[in-house]
Amino acid sequence: MASNGIKDRVAIVGMGCTQFGEHWDKGPDDLLIDAAYQAYESAGIDRKDVDAYWLGTMGQLSGLTLSIPLKIPYKPVTHVENFCATGSEALRQACYAVASGAYDIAMAIGVEKLKDSGFSGLVVSDPPNDGTLGNMTAPASFSLLAPAYFKKYGLDPDKGKDVLSRIAWKNHRNGAKNPKAQFRKEVPLEQIKASPKVADPLGIMDCSGVSDGSAAAIVVRAEDAHKFTRDPIFIKALSFVAGPGEGPLAQDYDFTTFREVVASAQDAYHQAGVTDPRTQISMAEVHDCFTPTELVLYEDLGFSARGTAWKDVLDGFFDLEGSLPVNPDGGLKSFGHPIGASGLRMMYEMWLQLRGEAGPRQIKDPTLGLTHNLGGMPGRCVSFVSIVGR
Ligand code: COA
Repeated sequence: MASNGIKDRVAIVGMGCTQFGEHWDKGPDDLLIDAAYQAYESAGIDRKDVDAYWLGTMGQLSGLTLSIPLKIPYKPVTHVENFCATGSEALRQACYAVASGAYDIAMAIGVEKLKDSGFSGLVVSDPPNDGTLGNMTAPASFSLLAPAYFKKYGLDPDKGKDVLSRIAWKNHRNGAKNPKAQFRKEVPLEQIKASPKVADPLGIMDCSGVSDGSAAAIVVRAEDAHKFTRDPIFIKALSFVAGPGEGPLAQDYDFTTFREVVASAQDAYHQAGVTDPRTQISMAEVHDCFTPTELVLYEDLGFSARGTAWKDVLDGFFDLEGSLPVNPDGGLKSFGHPIGASGLRMMYEMWLQLRGEAGPRQIKDPTLGLTHNLGGMPGRCVSFVSIVGR
């Protein structure tokens, strides 16, 4: 894939992230203001200093959604949407705008207000299609990964369920250490395994929650970064791909991989010069919308060889204390998934970890962090991978 990348040309110099959860008393305006002002403060700038804004949200329309609450009239504000990877798309656009020299300071910000908007997480969406696409809920679509993976790699369903439960257990354990998470309690493995079924074999505890939230990042050219903060983090790679969308109908698609993730990961590794992700990536935030998604992502991102991720899960390889911690902030499992905000929420954890500010979740001396954000469903999706470092 032809992709030159912008390695070390752009830095993140300020970030903000709201508490994620059920904000019955707040609208998108309040959430955007909260995240944006945290980001201004961390970069030591005023809202008027930002030259251009990229807003990621699925539930709202146009740049006015941001310009009105932030009181930033006559600034360029671009609204972007790319399924569940919307927040990452906003970041990508802001970074490229700064790298091009068009602007000195840009903000990427994402928001979603799901809890009292009638969106339950189980609604049947109406994605672009040619009329041949069967409509399924998100848990139903992603549930197809589990039996496919178990069968291909010889796991009996009970053992497979243990592996999925272990992933949810890890993410809730990490989320319990995070004051910004929606769910902040450890959940015993047996309770996870026995949780009521949503789409067999997935129980409630295999699903991410439904929440409200917002997160924001301020980006500048790398050479300017230290004017804003002592500890900027630098963009090593940004890759975004949209797949052909033929998966569910393609005879050779077996639901044990996201080809879009493989393509975006390989592109990102090429941009960043990463040759062995299992040893070179210090930590990752991945799109754990459902537990089998995270299982398959370990292999698609090259963290585990094909057919072995389940063993790495049981061995604790991806635990906070493991060799490659995944979802140290608790992931979608603990944060819920306010669509436009999630990609930037993942980056917020990289920001804290790389600066040594992650408190009880702090990973020792991380050098490279990866975020992965997926939009769509197995065989029919878009995928984003970023790599950032000090
Ligand atoms: N994980 C852990 N706990 C959850 C949870 C989840 N996914 N969803 C709800 N809970 C908890 C709530 O905190 C609440 O606990 P409490 O009684 O102690 O307060 C309890 O379960 C009931 O919550 P409620 O909001 O009534 O749950 P629900 O039945 O409406 O929703 C799901 C449960 C699984 C249907 C919902 O979380 C869901 O739709 N998740 C998938 C979201 C999705 O598809 N996103 C798109 C990804 S691509």
